[in-house]
Amino acid sequence: MSRALATSDPSQGSRPVLQALPADLDPTRLPAHVAVIMDGNGRWARRRNLPRVMGHREGVEALKRTLRLCSDWGIGALTAYAFSTENWSRPGEEVSFLMALFERVLARELEGLEREQVRIRFFGDLQQLPTGLQELIASAEARTANNVGIHFNVCTNYGGRRELVRAARRLADQVARGELDPAAIDEAAFAAELHTAGESDPDLLIRTSGEQRISNFLLWQLAYAELHVTDVLWPDFDAQSLTLALQDYQGRQRRFGGVDPVSP
Ligand code: IPE
Ligand code: IPE
Ligand code: MG
Repeated sequence: MSRALATSDPSQGSRPVLQALPADLDPTRLPAHVAVIMDGNGRWARRRNLPRVMGHREGVEALKRTLRLCSDWGIGALTAYAFSTENWSRPGEEVSFLMALFERVLARELEGLEREQVRIRFFGDLQQLPTGLQELIASAEARTANNVGIHFNVCTNYGGRRELVRAARRLADQVARGELDPAAIDEAAFAAELHTAGESDPDLLIRTSGEQRISNFLLWQLAYAELHVTDVLWPDFDAQSLTLALQDYQGRQRRFGGVDPVSP
């Protein structure tokens, strides 16, 4: 996929050259899928005496930066938490700003994503989003569906519990229609009804701004993810922050319930 990006015609846009993987990272032991809880936009703005929404605007830049780095470094999928099912409880102006921001950014970035072979998808209860945004999402997903580059998943009006309930209901519907035997429901059948169907589970979860919680993100999929919490606020997240997260990941011994190969 990096090759696809490397050979894209530079005259077609302002894309900078490919960023090399830092020498202290092992290219053979990168996570295939990175998930990120992009937190701390409000605090970033407050520290600068700016309105919270300025933090969200700057957060978009951090997301673009992170996507490009993950793509250049050969990470297969990036899943970002942009708006939770609980975030509707924020002040109306902030929610409206975020919805307008998602729409504006997607419209602006779509051509570049297409050119760079990014496959974008949106996970969540999309029907509650403004109609214009829903239409743009449908078009972005369709236009990038056959792209061969990084899988970029944006969780918007996403809640892990809501996703699990939806999966249960979809399976129940199949049972009620006589198409599915309840005894045939196993973990694979359940996973196939989640938004993430077909995507590998995240290997690494990054949460910025120091909060040590999951906040209803990917409850099923994070079962064995390695967790990296950094105090860096999301708008400040950069190549160095990502490198530190990946170094932390590469230092972990993943056991999946087993024992270390070197254990007595
Ligand atoms: C994360 O930043 C962005 C969204 C949840 C949309 P916050 O807006 O939660 O920032 P803090 O946590 O208030 O600093
Ligand atoms: C999690 O951040 C949701 C997103 C990043 C979209 P929040 O700021 O909403 O999480 P809490 O409220 O601190 O748990
Ligand atoms: Mg927050």
